[in-house]
Amino acid sequence: MLTFPLRTERLDLTPLDATDRDAFVAYRREPDVARWQSWTTDYSTADADRLLAAQPATVVPGSGDWLQVGVRARTDGTLLGDVAVHALAEQPDTYELGVTLGSAAQGHGYATEALRALADALVGGLGAHRLTALTDARNEPVARLFRRLGFRHEGRAVEADWFGGEWTTVDSWAVLGAEWPRV
Ligand SMILES: CC(C)(COP(=O)(O)OP(=O)(O)OC[C@H]1O[C@@H](n2cnc3c(N)ncnc32)[C@H](O)[C@@H]1OP(=O)(O)O)[C@@H](O)C(=O)NCCC(=O)NCCS
Repeated sequence: MLTFPLRTERLDLTPLDATDRDAFVAYRREPDVARWQSWTTDYSTADADRLLAAQPATVVPGSGDWLQVGVRARTDGTLLGDVAVHALAEQPDTYELGVTLGSAAQGHGYATEALRALADALVGGLGAHRLTALTDARNEPVARLFRRLGFRHEGRAVEADWFGGEWTTVDSWAVLGAEWPRV
């Protein structure tokens, strides 16, 4: 099982809940945050309410669910962003990851720290076989992030996704549990 909170040097990670709504909506509406994402800058409190109400209580391997986990400053509990885990329904022990930080929280290594802790828990706690991510090929910060974490760039699907009125090129990243450094 995944057991929360996950604690790092600077962060606490716990699943998002209804009390996070306003801070969550605020950073999802930032143009730089929404640019390469599945939502747009008109993301609303109603959108957030729906997402938060649909949160699974925990990650159930194979469930097909996404769990959104808040990334919080240990100093004062401020919500800095979130990491997300998708337990793939079609493959056992395989988890797709996502990550978002509000713009004020970027450039401090928080995403690296949060995803590393999450991957440690998925591999160490759940016995994950494989961790994956899909990113927009234009999103250079997220490519640096997954490389920094040790994910392999496994492929590029050129103009594979019709999104936001244009064809989007999608990069795929992965690391095996057996490759992930044990803590
Ligand atoms: C993707 C995203 C989370 C990356 O954020 P980020 O701030 O670049 O990543 P980190 O928090 O790990 O910070 C790393 C950066 O901080 C710098 N840094 C500063 N202090 C640091 C520290 N103590 N430890 C590590 N890095 C530090 C690093 O040099 C690095 O900068 P660089 O990439 O220019 O070299 C962010 O760009 C984002 O939220 N974008 C919008 C949402 C999005 O597109 N998500 C991806 C969809 S899958």
